[in-house]
Amino acid sequence: MDCDLVIVGGGGAGLRAALAATLADPGLDIVLVSKVVPMRSHTVAAEGGAAAVLRDDDSFAQHFDDTVSGGEWLCDQRAVEAFVAACPQELIQLERWGCPWSRQDDGRVQTRFFGGMRVQRTWFAADRTGFHMLHTLFQTSLRHPSIRRHDEFFCTDLLVDEHGLAGVLGVDIARGTPVLYRARAAVLATGGAGRVYAHNTNAGIVTGEGMALAAVHGVALRDLEFVQWHPTALPGSGILITEGCRGEGGLLLNAEGRRYLQDYDLGPPDPWPRPRAMELGPRDRLSQAFWHEDRARRTVTTPQGSAVLLDLRHLGAERLAERLPMISEVARRFLGIDPVTTPIPVRPAVHYTMGGVATGLDGATALPGLFAAGECASTGIHGANRLGSNSLAELLVFGRAAGEAAAAWSRNAPSAAGGSLLREAQARAGQAYALLAEGHQAGRPRVAELRTAMHAAMEDGVGIFRDAEGMQRACQALAELRARYRAGVALDDRSRSFNTEWLAAIELGHALQVAETIAHAALARRESRGAHRRRDAWSARDDANFLVHSLAYCDPQAAPRIEHVPVTLTRSAPGERSYGGAGARVALD
Ligand code: FUM
Repeated sequence: MDCDLVIVGGGGAGLRAALAATLADPGLDIVLVSKVVPMRSHTVAAEGGAAAVLRDDDSFAQHFDDTVSGGEWLCDQRAVEAFVAACPQELIQLERWGCPWSRQDDGRVQTRFFGGMRVQRTWFAADRTGFHMLHTLFQTSLRHPSIRRHDEFFCTDLLVDEHGLAGVLGVDIARGTPVLYRARAAVLATGGAGRVYAHNTNAGIVTGEGMALAAVHGVALRDLEFVQWHPTALPGSGILITEGCRGEGGLLLNAEGRRYLQDYDLGPPDPWPRPRAMELGPRDRLSQAFWHEDRARRTVTTPQGSAVLLDLRHLGAERLAERLPMISEVARRFLGIDPVTTPIPVRPAVHYTMGGVATGLDGATALPGLFAAGECASTGIHGANRLGSNSLAELLVFGRAAGEAAAAWSRNAPSAAGGSLLREAQARAGQAYALLAEGHQAGRPRVAELRTAMHAAMEDGVGIFRDAEGMQRACQALAELRARYRAGVALDDRSRSFNTEWLAAIELGHALQVAETIAHAALARRESRGAHRRRDAWSARDDANFLVHSLAYCDPQAAPRIEHVPVTLTRSAPGERSYGGAGARVALD
């Protein structure tokens, strides 16, 4: 199929990129390829809100400072400056396209507190912000006939020639037939890789393929060692219990009924105008504090493991119904408890991949014609720890930038590649189909066996706290798993139509590549910063040697090669994060 631009991924970033591209050039032929119907993309699961300066007591400078100190100065400051300045216009654009932001009584947009943000900066639509944003983008995309949707098409590879990107390879999931999208521009918007861990808040589709597809073709993955644990998910299922609960005043209690966060050093004394930190401290520190409470046996026991308690009772039935209706429903349906009367057990779960495909501010990667946006990309704005609600704003700001840049690229790109491309496409597609043809051969592992082993390696070696021995163990285990995967997996289902076992096998190959890269990037960072916290000789931050981004270059047959490059600083010199508060005592290392 010939087209001008392929967008891989139908979530928030992909839809925003498609809209930007068609608005920039309505004549472009755009194909939006998504492995699920777009309204099932993981953006739909985002709850608490999207950050943008709105109020009189806020400023771009404050949003910049919160983001950069929240990311422990590993943020690319040029990117953060561009990001904070663009957030308000993007959220207003969504308003104009119909997004039902929650309102104050006088009709102005309502905002709430979020972790690490010094003022109310998070716009929300009750606790279904992702659903409403995705719905708004999706319904707007329907007005543009130049965006052709290929729902339930799965991308398996990229095609590259001497000019750069030449096409994208996919599979029509309903028929099992291969598809070649011949185009000179593509935007990867496939989301993160949370599913490389066992305990996560992510949909089953979040398996890291955009990152793996780019990496296989030589594009660097940046800062993958920084994996975000969200401090409040349901034990077992990992269902997200939004930070918006704490933004509305929810409290975290240990088994003794104590607001245990007062016992932890969340940073030096707080210069900010309101007494906070505690429940509204940053996610890395809250997840680390849980780990300590658990070790000290001050957590409660649930059938799915240990937890602390999120107490919303004092908010009252009316406020819970207005601000947190979905959380209330989740507690009732999944736990059989009513948050109006009973605290919700919660624990940390992997939530967000802070690194990703290295891009510039326009989403361009090192491969000409290939762009990336959203969670699968890394512009460098999150540094070592993302602030909650920056990601929904990010997928709009950088989704738009990538869509516009890809449209411009496509207009000026060299003409489509010819017959040699078709031969290359057939050869590469053959690799995916070989898996299917081989079927179930004796002695081969099943997908679930390798996936479970990958989860164990990641949870054991590259968790909330890390040390050299654990990370080395993870690297070794993942290398072995990749070797076993390359030798072939056993598939029982050899049919073509909706063969989810086959698709899971392809996803597993991508996930293993990303998991191994996370482990190697983590091992190479011999310091502690943000979400990368070591309990060995490198438990301190080391600006002298590690104020650097990691860049991982992947090799299908070997371990990734890790390089480090300096962080771009513009106007904030590295300093100490301040989230303190009365009574801070226990160091989080
Ligand atoms: O807790 C939440 O609602 C998550 C928001 C985010 O990750 O930005």
